[in-house]
Amino acid sequence: MPRIPQAFIDELLARADIVDLVGSRVTLKKQGREYSACCPFHAEKTPSFFVSPQKQFYHCFGCGAHGTAISFLMEYDNLDFIEAVEELARRAGMEVPRENGPGHQDTQKLQRLIAAQEAAANHFSENLRRHPEAINYLRQRGLSGEIARDYRLGFATDARDHLIRALSGSFDEQELLNAGLTSRGDSGPPHDRFRGRIMFPIRDNRGRVVGFGARLLGSGKPKYLNTPETPVFHKGQILYGLYEARKASPRLEELLVVEGYMDVIALAQFGLRNAVATLGTSTTRDHLERLFRVVQRLVFCFDGDRAGHEAGWRALEQALPLMRDGRQIRFLFLQEGEDPDTMVRREGPERLHECIRQSRPLSDVLMEGLRDRHDISSREGRAALGAEASRLIRDMPEGLLRAQIINELAQLAGVTAEQFEHGMGQRETDSREEPARTPQPPRPAPIARRQRLEITPVRLALSVLLDQPSLARELGDTTWLGKLNTPGVQTLAQVLETLGQHPHLTTAGILERWRDSETGRHLLKLAQWRPPPSEEDSVPQLLQDALKRLRQQYLQQRTEDLLARASRAALTDDEKAELKTLLASKG
Ligand code: GTP
Ligand code: MN
Repeated sequence: MPRIPQAFIDELLARADIVDLVGSRVTLKKQGREYSACCPFHAEKTPSFFVSPQKQFYHCFGCGAHGTAISFLMEYDNLDFIEAVEELARRAGMEVPRENGPGHQDTQKLQRLIAAQEAAANHFSENLRRHPEAINYLRQRGLSGEIARDYRLGFATDARDHLIRALSGSFDEQELLNAGLTSRGDSGPPHDRFRGRIMFPIRDNRGRVVGFGARLLGSGKPKYLNTPETPVFHKGQILYGLYEARKASPRLEELLVVEGYMDVIALAQFGLRNAVATLGTSTTRDHLERLFRVVQRLVFCFDGDRAGHEAGWRALEQALPLMRDGRQIRFLFLQEGEDPDTMVRREGPERLHECIRQSRPLSDVLMEGLRDRHDISSREGRAALGAEASRLIRDMPEGLLRAQIINELAQLAGVTAEQFEHGMGQRETDSREEPARTPQPPRPAPIARRQRLEITPVRLALSVLLDQPSLARELGDTTWLGKLNTPGVQTLAQVLETLGQHPHLTTAGILERWRDSETGRHLLKLAQWRPPPSEEDSVPQLLQDALKRLRQQYLQQRTEDLLARASRAALTDDEKAELKTLLASKG
């Protein structure tokens, strides 16, 4: 990954105003020190989404979405980190520095890789125009020139090195191999990877071609070929048709997830331009997260045969941990041997729309699947059902959907909801990272029991520092924190050290330093803390008090440590003096 210097990100976050940025996409209303809006990440009627200009941070009390200007662009515009930084820089009129050194070379390599894919896509679409057999194939499958153009369909001829000859002036042998456009047999020079195939370019969020799917014109094996994994092409992440779907409609509400390239294209031909396909793999959590960044509603289409139902169940398992309230998944099982392509052709788009409307919600499929898999006429069977269900819904986010499912499962298993939840065990990820205090305004009451954590001095200190980083300057020497042994104190020490080196860092600047780490997620939660209105003036005091308590803990630990050592061996003179002071100060 090309590294963007931290100093640049600091500067970018200092200059790019999050209120401006969010305001350009969502209507904000000033409310006290913050701005509010109806949350763009979940459906709601009263605003629970807040943007703080001071912290350069947003937070939704309804769905829990939160983050910096960079996170906002990643979530709202569905960009990756680098893309979000570039977009923010563009808005601020800044140039993202291209570091010399390894990072710089990586960037260049990635750019060459993508340039090769783009050049190949042009070559293939040029070919398509010149080869009636390919055009006829597409026609015979019912596709128009318009769809071929929108999806940049192309054709790779039979020749062993047609593409190589076309691109050799611009790319060397190794670059084409790296791009997965050519491959090397046991002997001899590399040859074109794709031959005699209809080419489906696969585009990333920004519309750049990063790889291809390719279907044989005739029959034969393998019917489909994909670009192999490359630094820009990861099968478990990319969804075919997502870029095109977003381009076709800026306000997508629902995406259809189908199995094949041809399904995506055929549906588009019939006006359903919101279909996407995985690249011949089963649906991963990564796929689902990407899809849920774009819409709140997914419809999975599967073949109605056994394999289709199994694939559906696997998708359901992946989806459950992501099913926070507001998100919806429905399943459409077609008739055996049918795929969306054949179905829409035979029965027309109206019928398909009808089937989509009648598709089954995830929770139905879950309950029915569980009933089918267990013998609910016996207690043992019901217990087994309960055990499987527990495993499946343990990681579901809290909310009304989860609560309803639990109620129903409990009924089915013949126990109370409490008993059922108890049997499931406490979720691990849930309570550890609660904000230090109940934020204002309070969140909707959690549905299931949640353990509230006590406000430890470490959490309080971190929360205050994330609220007002400048307070770090008033703390004096805090290096002793590094020697204190208490949970989370290392993070506090690191944050203070960072603020010592970069005294003008904003909250967002701190948070971005820990992006994508466990500590970062912890800090994000703590950053949601706001002083209760009655305590706004005493925030500096809260920090002082927290540190005083930590200091006492430290002195206590140090005393005990020295006493323990003194009982084993003689202390040095310095240590003796220290112990004396410690004992004296305790009085
Ligand atoms: P058509 O026969 O053109 O209608 O294709 P289809 O999309 O109906 O094909 P199928 O249902 O057989 O496969 C669905 C998806 O699985 C395809 O779009 C590919 O992504 C993948 N796939 C199918 N066959 C192969 C294969 O032989 N090799 C690989 N790598 N992937 C395949
Ligand atoms: Mn098909």
